[in-house]
Amino acid sequence: FWGIFVLYQVFGIVRPDHVLVDNHRPKVLITNPYVPKIAFDLLATCYIRNCDIVSIQNETKEEIVSKVKGVDAILWGSHIKIDKDVLDAAGDQMKVIGAMSAGYDHIDLPELKKRGIKLGNTPKVLNGAVADTAVLLALAAARRLHEGRLLIDSGKWNPNEWILGQDIEGSTVGIIGLGGIGQAIAKRVKAFDVKQILYTGHKEKAEGNELGAKFLPLEDRDELLRQSDFVFVAAPLTAETEGMCNEEFFSKMKKTAVFVNISRGKVVDQKALYKALKQGQIFAAGLDVMTPEPLPTTDELLTLPNLVLMPHWGSATEQTRNAMAELTVRNIMNALKGEPMVTPLT
Ligand code: DGY
Repeated sequence: FWGIFVLYQVFGIVRPDHVLVDNHRPKVLITNPYVPKIAFDLLATCYIRNCDIVSIQNETKEEIVSKVKGVDAILWGSHIKIDKDVLDAAGDQMKVIGAMSAGYDHIDLPELKKRGIKLGNTPKVLNGAVADTAVLLALAAARRLHEGRLLIDSGKWNPNEWILGQDIEGSTVGIIGLGGIGQAIAKRVKAFDVKQILYTGHKEKAEGNELGAKFLPLEDRDELLRQSDFVFVAAPLTAETEGMCNEEFFSKMKKTAVFVNISRGKVVDQKALYKALKQGQIFAAGLDVMTPEPLPTTDELLTLPNLVLMPHWGSATEQTRNAMAELTVRNIMNALKGEPMVTPLT
């Protein structure tokens, strides 16, 4: 037994169902220099044998393509597109991509499937941090945080002038997409003693009932928009949701309502949002995500006092990014060993 154990551990001879069948040290590309140290440490020490890590200096597509050749796995720590160019440059030996994100709209799933490349992502571990961001943006927009700062900065703060915001207490909150993040938003807003929570999506969810939230089917989404004082978008970017928040969408909302998007920029028609905010069709908005990212400094959205912006920092806390990094490495290592990933997407 001990002989076999030593062969197994030291020389990397693994069971037939495992993917690594020789003494090859797996090579893993980490696409972002900011991926937490825990990922590098785990990859350097864990499981069957150490991995060789290929790192990136600047996180550009060009650099990724130039360094990806011959790797067994990629830890994808950015929102750059994973497409044919990257996969062709990597080569046929590539076995797995661990995406360090919950969203996977930047990944060409059919291309991965065609090549038999496994994919894992990081759902759940970021729900709390992203939901915190949603609430932060909602309150900041409702209480005119950006406008207030502009008044202070410009010396135009006039204490005799009352500039009033909107309460969340007693409000109706509408959530579009009651997945893990949507549920975490619902939990948080309940603590503000809101009047009711409405949600819409493809189907009614048991978790929605547990949260005391009322389901409105997709065909009744306008009802949610008409009733809500706060509208949160927490649905993933898909062909169905792309451009969903358009002129018609904003025209259904209350003039006093606050709009928050922590999903993906492309679910919003930004021209329509600009118009709605500029013309007072809605009260204010908070966005963590926009199109493109980074947003050009000349973009008209930046001229709006009633818009609060964050640079896609939804999951950007030390604890959450560490958890995401660790989960991504576990997905990669499991797949390399031929074991099920913790959170597989394919
Ligand atoms: C995700 O995980 O998809 C978020 O956008 C954070 O990067």
